[in-house]
Amino acid sequence: MTLPEHLTIHEGHLYIGMHDCNDLAKEYGTPVYVTDEEKLRQNFIRYNDALKAHYSDVQLLYAAKANGNLSILKIFASLGAGADVFSSGELHLALLAGIPPEKLLFNGSSKTHDDLRVAVEKGVRISLDSFDELKQLDKIAGELGRIVEVSFRVNPAIDVPTHPKIATGLATSKFGIPADQIVDAYRAALECENVDPVGMHCHIGSQILDVTPFVKEMEVLLKVAGEITKMGVHLKFIDIGGGLGIAYDHEKEVAPTPKEYADAVMPVFIAGIQKLGIKPQLWVEPGRNLVGDTTILLTRVNSVKTSHKKFVNVDAGFNLLIRPAMYGSHHDVIAVGKADEEKTEEYTVTGPICETGDILAENRKLPELESGDVLAILDTGAYGYSMASQYNCRPRCPEVMIFEDRHGIMRRGESVVDIVNTMKRLPWHEK
Ligand code: LLP
Repeated sequence: MTLPEHLTIHEGHLYIGMHDCNDLAKEYGTPVYVTDEEKLRQNFIRYNDALKAHYSDVQLLYAAKANGNLSILKIFASLGAGADVFSSGELHLALLAGIPPEKLLFNGSSKTHDDLRVAVEKGVRISLDSFDELKQLDKIAGELGRIVEVSFRVNPAIDVPTHPKIATGLATSKFGIPADQIVDAYRAALECENVDPVGMHCHIGSQILDVTPFVKEMEVLLKVAGEITKMGVHLKFIDIGGGLGIAYDHEKEVAPTPKEYADAVMPVFIAGIQKLGIKPQLWVEPGRNLVGDTTILLTRVNSVKTSHKKFVNVDAGFNLLIRPAMYGSHHDVIAVGKADEEKTEEYTVTGPICETGDILAENRKLPELESGDVLAILDTGAYGYSMASQYNCRPRCPEVMIFEDRHGIMRRGESVVDIVNTMKRLPWHEK
């Protein structure tokens, strides 16, 4: 297995950066998510540079849903990132992290009245997903005496090679406005008093390992850009969303690099806008590609059992990492203290949750394991903690950051008391 460069093996132990994962597991307990700050920085710079090599007016909007830890948002903010936010909560986090409102886009297909109001109050641009939302926003902005800059989310009707649950630009998906209605949406916005349509937004899906669909997406957007420019829309930005995947199976998968992505998409973008005589900013919303490979989930073996096959029961389950259960996703697994031992056994790694589907990794070759061994589940920086739950009354685990020779908690683990404290005694149950 070719490991990402921040993961190395020394004297049989897995290291993340300068840190022995067994020591981190001992210090912070398990389960624990561990993120490498240096890798976060490298990923951002690599992505940004790849696009800017083609066109200087590029703005990265980190997709906060991938990993909403404030420390991570702050690192990206310091590198110049904006953010794609999908809820008032993510909006709040992004502002707390110091990302200026003009670098944010409030996305979402089902925003509440309060979401819209907060975005207007904070001066954040909004990506609209329906005519109904446009009407509501125009009214809210009018009441607040503001003019709001918006984009519409275009549904480009593009099939993408990824899990169906995370393909978002299909003709049948819930997101966006279909191509045959999109021009009317801009026309309607031009007629609104308090809304200014200055952007175009699209996102075709996630974990895409082929650059061709992104090129197709760009072609659709440029076609729409041509039609709405003629109608009098002055496009300040075109936002092509995120979606570039990463290699999860390090033996089999190869992911396009951000440079390969940029080299495929940017010439089409540049030729298109030149033809139209417009000069919008290019916005991109990567999530997974910036954070996915920066993080490992350390989990300890509770017990090993042989029934119809060998199971290794660990202390993290789909409460902490739902991707395998939800999308059948593959995450590589390494036995932290036995990293160079021969992989003589085949195990299915299962969590502690009361469901048959609570499997983190199926039929994996690993060294012989015993209770107390620590396993690292790789590439858990995107949609890991951010999709975690408290199912089975399991408090969510801590998140740790490492940087050079340092390490520290960037989110404490919850306790059962945290869970219980949100519950209220009902008045009619009082004695
Ligand atoms: N922009 C929008 C509007 C999005 O909906 C998303 C992801 C992104 C950007 C970032 O996409 P990325 O670059 O991370 O692929 N939970 C799933 C992934 C869901 C993605 C949702 N939207 C998973 O674990 O694979």
